[in-house]
Amino acid sequence: MRKKSVYVTRQIPREGIDFLTPEFDVEVNPEDRALTREEFLTSIRGKDGVICLVTETIDAEVFEAAPEVKGFANFAVGYNNLDVQEATRRGIPVSNTPDVLTKATAEMAWALLFAAARRVVESDAVARSGRWPGWGPLQFIGGDVSGRTLGIVGAGRIGAAMALMSRGFDMPVLYWDTRKNTALEETLGARKVSFEELLAGSDFISIHVPLLPETTGLFGLEEFGKMKRTAYLINTSRGPVVKEKELAEALKKGLIAGAGIDVYEREPDIEPDLRGLTNVVLTPHTASATGSARKGMALKAAENIRAMLRGERPPDCLNPEVLKY
Ligand code: GLV
Repeated sequence: MRKKSVYVTRQIPREGIDFLTPEFDVEVNPEDRALTREEFLTSIRGKDGVICLVTETIDAEVFEAAPEVKGFANFAVGYNNLDVQEATRRGIPVSNTPDVLTKATAEMAWALLFAAARRVVESDAVARSGRWPGWGPLQFIGGDVSGRTLGIVGAGRIGAAMALMSRGFDMPVLYWDTRKNTALEETLGARKVSFEELLAGSDFISIHVPLLPETTGLFGLEEFGKMKRTAYLINTSRGPVVKEKELAEALKKGLIAGAGIDVYEREPDIEPDLRGLTNVVLTPHTASATGSARKGMALKAAENIRAMLRGERPPDCLNPEVLKY
């Protein structure tokens, strides 16, 4: 009997591929780069299942170009690159990779928070430049972290994990979400507040919302103007939640003290005005890049696609209403 086929659009940790090879013909993009749209559409044609990435848009054009594909497993927790509604309309299951990257992403938010507040990248550049004149009482004065107020925008899995990690730093926690997070309130005494209150009251704001029409452009000059001039913005969610050019302007004008940013409006392009500033720390969308998180994502994507092709329930199906099994 013919083995079913799975196309994987980029090399992913070996464990995910090894999980699938006993049962499926697995083909992996051999290039260490994202496929062009044409290459992607050609490569998935005639395949039974696809493991795709945030760099690929899965929409009606894809479903039309590859009608044989019976399911798409996204190698990411965020799934704004998938048109779930269109997939559902066509009866195609799609999935994501929650949980396995929650801690890694929350830790990266902390890494950016500390790097921005304590000016780690700027200091590193001076330390290695050969131009450090020696210890000085006024060098690289940064922002305090302990005891300062942490504002979480989106208290879902990752936002809540970031908030819980603040315990060692004794920080009052505010959060803004459409839903109440009882666990966070009970464990930390976190307070659910209005967006305005969060902007005005936080020393650090960390963004953890999904990219939706309501969260696109959530932060711009107007919002930065309502933040404390000593505050920092951290974004490990999705780039378009922050208007990048306006963030650069706010940082330049001193409307806020600094920022730590992992995601961008038009990846891989990054606003040149932002790249020129020293009071922002920039990482290239690597918040989930730890060995265990990436291995977990590979295994989850593999489990999901295997279930879709076996006719079983994928553990992380985003549109379970299409499952007939
Ligand atoms: C990465 O950005 C993810 O959503 O997993």
